[in-house]
Amino acid sequence: MLVKTVLLLFFVSFGACDPSVVIVGAGASGIAAAARLLKNDITNITILEAEDRIGGRVYSVPLGDGYVDLGAEWCHGEKDNIVYDMVKDLNILQHTNKFYPEIYHSKFKRLDQNFSNLLLDTFDELIGEPNKNSSIGERLIARYEEVISQWKNDPRVYALAQEAITVFEAYVIGYEGAFSWFDISDNDDYILSDGDLYLHWNGHGFKTILDLLMQKYPDASKSLPIDDKVLLNKEVHEIAWSSKQAVVKCSDSSTYVADHVIVTVSLGVLKHQHTSLFRPKLPSDKLQAIEQLGIAAVHKVLLHFPQRWWNDSYTGNCFLWNKDDAKHISFGEGPVKDGISWLTSVSVLLPVLHNPNVLEVWILGHFVPKVEQCPDEVVINGVMYLLDYFGVAVAETITRPDIIIRNNWYTNPHFRGTYSFQTPRTRHGYHSDPAILSEPLGNNREKPNLLFAGEASNPTHYSTVQGAIETGFREADRILKMYK
Ligand SMILES: Cc1cc2nc3c(=O)[nH]c(=O)nc-3n(C[C@H](O)[C@H](O)[C@H](O)COP(=O)(O)OP(=O)(O)OC[C@H]3O[C@@H](n4cnc5c(N)ncnc54)[C@H](O)[C@@H]3O)c2cc1C
Ligand SMILES: *[C@@H]1O[C@H](CO)[C@@H](O)[C@H](O)[C@H]1NC(C)=O
Ligand SMILES: *[C@@H]1O[C@H](CO)[C@@H](O)[C@H](O)[C@H]1NC(C)=O
Ligand SMILES: *[C@@H]1O[C@H](CO)[C@@H](O)[C@H](O)[C@H]1NC(C)=O
Ligand SMILES: *[C@@H]1O[C@H](CO)[C@@H](O)[C@H](O)[C@H]1NC(C)=O
Repeated sequence: MLVKTVLLLFFVSFGACDPSVVIVGAGASGIAAAARLLKNDITNITILEAEDRIGGRVYSVPLGDGYVDLGAEWCHGEKDNIVYDMVKDLNILQHTNKFYPEIYHSKFKRLDQNFSNLLLDTFDELIGEPNKNSSIGERLIARYEEVISQWKNDPRVYALAQEAITVFEAYVIGYEGAFSWFDISDNDDYILSDGDLYLHWNGHGFKTILDLLMQKYPDASKSLPIDDKVLLNKEVHEIAWSSKQAVVKCSDSSTYVADHVIVTVSLGVLKHQHTSLFRPKLPSDKLQAIEQLGIAAVHKVLLHFPQRWWNDSYTGNCFLWNKDDAKHISFGEGPVKDGISWLTSVSVLLPVLHNPNVLEVWILGHFVPKVEQCPDEVVINGVMYLLDYFGVAVAETITRPDIIIRNNWYTNPHFRGTYSFQTPRTRHGYHSDPAILSEPLGNNREKPNLLFAGEASNPTHYSTVQGAIETGFREADRILKMYK
């Protein structure tokens, strides 16, 4: 009798209840999906990851006094935020609340701090206003002009405020990850979580969330066997999804067969590769969603200085170029477009919490793909030039960084961008492109074999790690429901 029961259990678990699942990508969404499946006893899982590491756009590396993040860095909000819920009791996250980098001007150097702060507050206020234009750039240009016109009686202040619109655009495109604010829709479906939008990992790195998902932390004895399921350096190049089981082929000629494939690659990878990646090709509504949603890139650079040239009162700084000065930059290295150097795209320098010798630099806009290709020395020389030219510190006291770390999110074929955003085209005639992106495909309607997760497929939390994790759970739950 016992033997029979065991046999029966055996058949139940390996027959009806143990579908095979291939997950393409070991980023936050792929790891989340695997964790949810494993916790529910679906164990025939293979995670194929093209890079030589897990985490994807969560990429924490040791530098200075702790881990720094080349990818996701802040936990955005405290309510309805799955990331926050997972860590809130562990005393890891640190409050930032708001950045007040000071604005430095190419002619006037350090601007009055109150004026800097006033501009930054104005930016926030205007971004938060009800919106109805096509692109956010159109509305903000118009509204900004209206607001600063109150300073017209002080020509110097007014002229400065007018020039500062470039800082405003940098602020917006850094947040959205676009190359231009005309590429970003003026209204979108993103639902902001309440609470501190810039919770910092305090030297532990965003990778902590991966350890929590895999249950390696805080109690390693409860780890899920996810490492055993991950195959690194496995670049998937074709997914045939029309027969009963999907067939996944990798660049190294290996092949994997599975009842379900969860594709978690970035929107950028989908944009570049959908024609070769899917056999048969994707249906037209899915293709349209992929095409209409936006993804570009920011270039984040981490610099470690053997000697600090700033002190604790330094809150970081933005670089504001006067138009004429921007045309006559004497720094000769790196890309130039229409007579303007890439240096104009170095937007902000920020101190890193609990890492006293590290600063991070954000390079934004159309120069990003070219700057990614520049040698480290050019980037370091450029930043050194700016610090001196803008008078951020006394030239003699500025020291040169001894370590630089950066990642080519845009040119790396496994990412092709940093985080997705909604474009004016996405919003044309209303339908939710992320929702369309998330719809499963396959001949068997009850048990579709091609599923989509990943940040860009989240209708309300796209572009974030919390959003990515939600989509991993969503697709795992979709599979679990099929075998209930
Ligand atoms: C610079 C930067 C800053 C960011 N800042 C924040 C932040 O502060 N807060 C926040 O919440 N979010 C931030 N994000 C966004 C956040 O990192 C992402 O939304 C999230 O990590 C995406 O997870 P994912 O699983 O959807 O995609 P990914 O992490 O991209 O995972 C997909 C995986 O698929 C792999 N892959 C791609 N192609 C193939 C293939 N052909 N075969 C096999 N594997 C493949 C990739 O290597 C990758 O590991 C930032 C991102 C970047 C890049
Ligand atoms: C996992 O699934 C694959 C594909 O369906 C199958 O060939 C393999 O035997 C399964 N492995 C186990 C241990 O059940
Ligand atoms: C800046 O603002 C602070 C606080 O509002 C105020 O006390 C101070 O006088 C202002 N400084 C200048 C130079 O306006
Ligand atoms: C954009 O918004 C601004 C301010 O709300 C308005 O003045 C302007 O006419 C709008 N432009 C378009 C094209 O709708
Ligand atoms: C910090 O540095 C700034 C700029 O060099 C200087 O003005 C300020 O006095 C310094 N503050 C302290 C506390 O040393």
